[in-house]
Amino acid sequence: MSEQSERKRVILSGIQPTGTFTLGNYIGAVRNWAKLQDEFDCLYMVADLHALTVRQDPAALRRHSREAAAMILASGVDPKRSILFVQSHVPAHTQLNWIFCCNAQFGELSRMTQFKDKSAKHPDNVNGGLFTYPALMAADILIYNAELVPVGQDQTQHLELARNIAQRFNNNYSPTFVMPEGYVTKEGAKIMSLADPTRKMSKSDTNANAFILLTDDRDTITRKFKRAVTDSEGEVRYDPAAKPGVSNLMAIYHIFTGKTMEEIQHEFEGQGYGAFKEAVGTAVADGLAPIQNEYNRILADKEYVDTVLKEGAESASRIANKMIQKVYRKVGLLQL
Ligand code: AMP
Ligand code: TRP
Repeated sequence: MSEQSERKRVILSGIQPTGTFTLGNYIGAVRNWAKLQDEFDCLYMVADLHALTVRQDPAALRRHSREAAAMILASGVDPKRSILFVQSHVPAHTQLNWIFCCNAQFGELSRMTQFKDKSAKHPDNVNGGLFTYPALMAADILIYNAELVPVGQDQTQHLELARNIAQRFNNNYSPTFVMPEGYVTKEGAKIMSLADPTRKMSKSDTNANAFILLTDDRDTITRKFKRAVTDSEGEVRYDPAAKPGVSNLMAIYHIFTGKTMEEIQHEFEGQGYGAFKEAVGTAVADGLAPIQNEYNRILADKEYVDTVLKEGAESASRIANKMIQKVYRKVGLLQL
């Protein structure tokens, strides 16, 4: 972080290492992370503890954590300017998590849609961590007094809860935490599944045609876009309610080409969906190619990735440990 870091506002965001990132993760979250580095002091985190709320294969989790770090670096996050670390490497997060578990209320945790969704999806493993997940996420954010949190739309409810926790703590004790705001970009806040455009694109989808992985090769990307579910109208027009499939493809095309919705509509006028889908596939494959090259290069150098993560954990711990001492003191834990 720069020497003038005190004057810059702090950003924190995280992503779970539960598999290879999708195009949704990239557009909704990681793509924005690199862009924010000049203006803010950024901390980016591989949320491995959050991943444990659903069953993980230990070897795969370890591999995915390194891969996630490599993909974040490949997307342009620069460890000289930002802090990149793994959540479990900074134990202060779990320490603050406990304090927040004793602050967050059963009622508010019960209202979280992600908890309801994931409980329904894994009825055999509705564990305590899944329920208190937002308290840990609040700890991730508030321990650095992050003011902005760049995430996709699905995380805004968790952010709201983090604000409630911060406010309650500040009221019960004394002003301690800054109120975090979400940083949700309008375009791409929610990229939809290619197989069912009424659902969000998710890496845990059982249908591999539903998502684009950032590691998919050109042929796979083009094939998946060709198969993307649209409608029978045959007109490229932006209307998310009536035409969710086409509108989702338009949003993706817009992000990769910078063309406006009107320009896109005009470009494919009277051409049907074939040419449009082909163009979207090509634009995405072209856009991802340099990131994929970087990813492969970085991932091949494990030592480099591990050094970045080690230094990241040290820098993050320095900030986080100060905050946890302050919080422990405020809540009345005996300090010797
Ligand atoms: P997750 O994969 O659930 O750990 O999500 C990591 C980040 O990607 C979060 O900021 C999410 O909001 C974002 N994200 C996940 N899926 C999508 C999607 N389909 N569209 C936009 N953002 C997404
Ligand atoms: N819960 C987030 C997700 O599933 C990941 C995450 C964990 C996070 N801690 C965070 C995001 C703190 C932003 C800030 O996507």
